[in-house]
Amino acid sequence: MRKIIIDTDPGQDDAVAILLALGSPELEVLGITCVAGNVPLSLTSRNARIICELAGRPDVPVYAGAERPLVRKLVTAEYVHGKTGLNGPELWEPQMPLQAAHAVDFLIDTLRSTDDVTLCVLGPLTNIALAMIKAPDIVERIAQIVLMGGGCFEGGNTTPAAEFNIYVDPHAARTVFESGVDLVVMPLDVTHKAIATRPRVQAFADLGSKVGKFTSEMLDFFERFDMEKYGSQGGPLHDPNVIAYLLTPEIYAGRRVNIEIEIASELTMGMTVVDWWGVSSRAKNALFIREVDDDAFFALLVERLGRLG
Ligand code: RIB
Ligand code: CA
Repeated sequence: MRKIIIDTDPGQDDAVAILLALGSPELEVLGITCVAGNVPLSLTSRNARIICELAGRPDVPVYAGAERPLVRKLVTAEYVHGKTGLNGPELWEPQMPLQAAHAVDFLIDTLRSTDDVTLCVLGPLTNIALAMIKAPDIVERIAQIVLMGGGCFEGGNTTPAAEFNIYVDPHAARTVFESGVDLVVMPLDVTHKAIATRPRVQAFADLGSKVGKFTSEMLDFFERFDMEKYGSQGGPLHDPNVIAYLLTPEIYAGRRVNIEIEIASELTMGMTVVDWWGVSSRAKNALFIREVDDDAFFALLVERLGRLG
């Protein structure tokens, strides 16, 4: 089993990613660390526990991390995810406790004591950067970071230049992208090819399970913003691509490139500057994923979520 920590700001698409991980026996989820992003930390750390309870996994430890980015003011995305961050299905107050330890301390302690841990990062990179700054010795112990964020040919979804996760905390992103850790990036260029169309949303409802119903109701709500903005046939399912990459890397294709993060210009703040054509002599620090077999992606999602109650 591959040991992972999921760092997340649920968020409907984060929620589907967590369900995919919990429905996949190949993965051992050591813990879920929450960060402020789509909605404030009090809600992301509540939502992560709701999803664990939905999946019948109240044993998974959930930690609260950073309430705001390293330098800039927090920017949230209720306009996409709704006020709760999980609008769509009926929610409840989670019974499982939030762990007392801070997410950053859990990341440091776990990475120091456990080999071969992969970090699956689904939100702003604040927790990861804080852990690297507080305990530089963990950097070389991270097996791999697979993150959803950034874009190149697709442009930005929060400003013309920047994708939300990177835009919210560009300083944290720069710290992580400069760390030298083995990075796999799932940008908008690939997540915009994973569209939850009507038949695909219906396939979750057709599971006839609690998880299937909850997922279809989340996606019914989640899709409206992107359909209006892009005229797409549904919402792009961003974050589950991070987990699907661990399970079926063969359905993805990309290129090793240099990626740097803009932190100087307000106009392009948080832009992932991707040297796709290798015109600079900068080190190739990331695998930038650009293609996905979207039918295989959704088939995997339905099959694995179908294993949950
Ligand atoms: O830009 C998309 C990303 O921002 C996703 O991770 C979504 O959950 C939001 O956090
Ligand atoms: Ca997210």
